[in-house]
Amino acid sequence: MISEKDFIQTNYTISTENGSFEWSAPSNIALVKYWGKKNNQIPANPSVSFTLNHCKTITKLAFTKKPNDGNFSFDLLFEGQPKEDFKPKIQKFFERIFDYCPYLKDFHLTIDTQNTFPHSSGIASSASGMAALAMNVMSLEKVLNPAISEDYFNRKASFLARLGSGSACRSIKGNVVVWGNHAEISGSSDLFGVEFPSTLHENFRNYQDTILLVDKGEKQVSSTVGHDLMFGHPFAEQRFSQAHHNLSSIKHVLESGDVEHFIKIVESEALTLHAMMMTSMPYFILMKPNTLEIINRIWKFRNETQTPVCFTLDAGANVHILYPENTKEKVLQFIKNELVGYCQNGQYICDEIGNGAVNRN
Ligand code: DP6
Repeated sequence: MISEKDFIQTNYTISTENGSFEWSAPSNIALVKYWGKKNNQIPANPSVSFTLNHCKTITKLAFTKKPNDGNFSFDLLFEGQPKEDFKPKIQKFFERIFDYCPYLKDFHLTIDTQNTFPHSSGIASSASGMAALAMNVMSLEKVLNPAISEDYFNRKASFLARLGSGSACRSIKGNVVVWGNHAEISGSSDLFGVEFPSTLHENFRNYQDTILLVDKGEKQVSSTVGHDLMFGHPFAEQRFSQAHHNLSSIKHVLESGDVEHFIKIVESEALTLHAMMMTSMPYFILMKPNTLEIINRIWKFRNETQTPVCFTLDAGANVHILYPENTKEKVLQFIKNELVGYCQNGQYICDEIGNGAVNRN
């Protein structure tokens, strides 16, 4: 089994003075949700997500050699401008990964990052952002140790991204990614995401995700605080075992193409995630009235037209609408006719399943 020790890089030479890399990494949408974690970003239960295609972070990393005096230094730019508010989160990420990437202290880094989706759209950029940054760090590692394999590169990138933000480890490679030990997913690990090992049924190929922006405001409760509230939560153990069970079921569904069963699992997972928030202490509600309006409209449309469309939610008020590619026209028409009015400034983003991070050098 792969352990944390396998990710400590010792076999490198500081063979270069300067250079730069550029990677994009996508966001992802969980079907079975990660909610609750142990120390060191170890998930309390396994999760699985669809990788998105258009909602991405693009990050450039430039490096210049400096004396290794035990200190780390970096500049952070957002869309080309210095962004001090983002620095603490990135600083914390680097502190968590130094043990695995000791060479980082031999360089001064300049990180320039941008998102393809509007800032403050309520779409979390932590998954795509940490994944893009982790890929850049691995590009640097590869320069210093060219012997590392592509598998190691991607696995360690996922491992590092996880230390930045749990769900980020599912944004490295593959259409469908599982993170967390699960008895029926071979190679699955709490330490990094793995590509769904079976062939995805054609019913899910090019699956669509339209994200309705219901509320773009700052969340009242961060995911990190929410995860912590699963400690001592009265339903935690049942929830964690339910996630194992749902992952078994959705594995079969993704193989067999059973879209009806897919809908049941995915919607139940979304509502369970929010039920956990509503039943923690302190309790909180991230859905807004329009979130519920949209859900009811989707249910009505599904009943009346027999279109296999469903919703899922992240830790926020926005609604992700998932549907097969061959229903695209019909569903987009429904969204335009009935749902746009519930979106803030009528905004929504059309996305679909994608493949993961891309090197832009
Ligand atoms: C509700 O990955 O944002 O989106 O590890 O604290 O950074 P941290 O949390 P984060 O949690 C995401 C939770 C979720 C469900 C999911 O993506 O699985």
